[in-house]
Amino acid sequence: MSNPAPLSFVHRYEPAAQAGAPPLLMLHGTGGDENDLLGLGRMISSGSALISPRGKVLEGGMPRFFRRLSEGVFDEDDVRARAAELAAFVTEAREAYGLAAPVAVGFSNGANIAAATLLLQPGVLAGAVLLRAMVPLADPPPAELGGVPVLLLSGAMDPIVPVSNAERLAGQLRAAGASLDHQVLPAGHGLSQADVNLARQWIAGPARAAA
Ligand code: MLT
Repeated sequence: MSNPAPLSFVHRYEPAAQAGAPPLLMLHGTGGDENDLLGLGRMISSGSALISPRGKVLEGGMPRFFRRLSEGVFDEDDVRARAAELAAFVTEAREAYGLAAPVAVGFSNGANIAAATLLLQPGVLAGAVLLRAMVPLADPPPAELGGVPVLLLSGAMDPIVPVSNAERLAGQLRAAGASLDHQVLPAGHGLSQADVNLARQWIAGPARAAA
């Protein structure tokens, strides 16, 4: 482990172990932190550099990446501001650590800010694995993602993200020109082994091909 550079987000950084493996931007869920998803990152792409920020918004002491008004109801002005803030952090981290554009790997609230960053800040992310994501913006501005690869994994029994909502996000991403693979797994909101296996295959395949 290296000492992280003093950037605009508290974060963890682990250098790449293999040339050509895409850097991963790990984005935790509500109540998580910068340590949460390092193990997942190693499982899905052992050679990748990992950059893992801690969300700056606190909800009852729990870190998140943007403010919500209630479960599933988002403060969209804050979503816009926080996506810009995360995009600026990605630029800083790329400079500080000499990284290519990262592939975001986000879970729940982390997946939602990754989806918002794709739609609002095209060009910042080289791709994204969105685990249990939902629509972060009811009506996103037109974006041109130019075939950026995105893997969206949803849970058929997810009590927080109805499949219809995930399908709406899939539609927004496709309309913006993402090359989207959306799969609905026999799972709830929590991650399953199938998520890990599919994400690993996708990083080694479409994400690398696009890098
Ligand atoms: C969460 O609990 O984090 C929600 O499912 C997603 C969000 O609030 O962004």
